[in-house]
Amino acid sequence: MNSSAPSADYLRQAPAVTERFQRLKERPVVLEIDRLGRQFAGKNGPVVALKNISLKIHRRELVCVIGPSGCGKSTLIRIIAGLDAPTGGRMLVDGKESRGPSPERGMVFQGYTLFPWLTVKQNVMFGLEMGGMSQNAAEGKSLEWLKLVGLTQFEESYPAQLSGGMKQRVAIARALAPNPRVLLMDEPFGALDAQTRAQMQAHLLEIWRNVDVTILFITHDLDEAIYLADRILVLKAHPGEVQEVIEVSVPRPRRADQFNSPEFLATKRRLEELIHPRIDVAVEKLPIVRLTPVGDDVE
Ligand SMILES: Nc1ncnc2c1ncn2[C@@H]1O[C@H](COP(=O)(O)OP(=O)(O)OP(=O)(O)O)[C@@H](O)[C@H]1O
Ligand SMILES: [Mg+2]
Repeated sequence: MNSSAPSADYLRQAPAVTERFQRLKERPVVLEIDRLGRQFAGKNGPVVALKNISLKIHRRELVCVIGPSGCGKSTLIRIIAGLDAPTGGRMLVDGKESRGPSPERGMVFQGYTLFPWLTVKQNVMFGLEMGGMSQNAAEGKSLEWLKLVGLTQFEESYPAQLSGGMKQRVAIARALAPNPRVLLMDEPFGALDAQTRAQMQAHLLEIWRNVDVTILFITHDLDEAIYLADRILVLKAHPGEVQEVIEVSVPRPRRADQFNSPEFLATKRRLEELIHPRIDVAVEKLPIVRLTPVGDDVE
C-alpha cells in the first residue's frame, strides 16, 4: 500500500463492535449539540472559535474531542457546561434546550480546582449542600462517592496533602455526586505524569462502568482518546470545525495490551493524518530565537 494514501483500516470493525455501535445508537440522545458556533471579538476582527458544530451523544456514551491547540475544544466544553454562551446554534440535554450552568452537567478541569480550605469530604459535599441537600445527607453521599473513587481513607485530608492523581479523583467524585446526566472533562489528566495518567484513564473507565453518566472528554493525547472513547470528534482549527467523527473499532472492555492491536494502531494512524499536518504548519511559522551564544551549538 502507498504509505501516503489515507488509510481506511480504522473503519474496519469486528462484528461485535458493529453490533455494539448499533445498540449504542438506539439509546436515547442525552446531549445534542446543534450547529453550535462561537465568535470572539479579536484585535483584527472577529475570531471564529467554533463553526457549525453538530453532534448527538447517546446515553452512557463516552466521546473524546481532539484537535490542534486553539481549535476551540475548551470553548466547546465551556459552552456545554454553561460557562460561556454560543453566538449561534443551541444545545439540548435530554431533548430540552439548555442554557447556563446546571447540576445536570458536571465539569472536571485540567488544573486542580478543589477548595484548599475544605477537606476532601467537604469538597464533595459543597455542591450537594449548595443544591439544597441537608448536611447529613450530603455527608453520606460524599462518603459513597469517595468510596467509589478509592479515597475513603483521605476523607479528612486537605487537597494540599494529596497527589495530583488523588486530587483529580476528588474532582471526579465532586462532579459526579449531584448525579449529572453529562460529565464534562477538559484535559483532566493533562498535568499528571505518564504512569498516574494511565492509572487514571483505567480508573475513569471503571467508574464510568458503574455510573449512568454520559462523558465528553477533551484531550490532545491520541492514545488517551482511543483508549477511552466510543467515538472521537476530531476538530480542525481556524475556524474550529468538525473534521471527522470516528467510531473507535477497538473492542471493549479496553485493556492496556490493546495499545498495540491492529485496530488501535489503524485508528492512531488516521488521527495522525488528520491532526499532524496542521501542527507542522504551526511550527514552521514560529520565529526562531537563539538563546545560546553561537559556538555553543551541540547539534
Ligand atoms: N475569551 C476569549 N476571547 C477571545 N478569544 C478567545 C477567547 N477564548 C478563546 N478564544 C479564542 O478561541 C480559539 C479557541 O480557543 P480554545 O481555548 O477553545 O482552544 P483549545 O482547542 O481549547 O486550545 P488548547 O488545546 O490550547 O487548550 C482560540 O483562537 C482562542 O484564542
Ligand atoms: Mg483548551
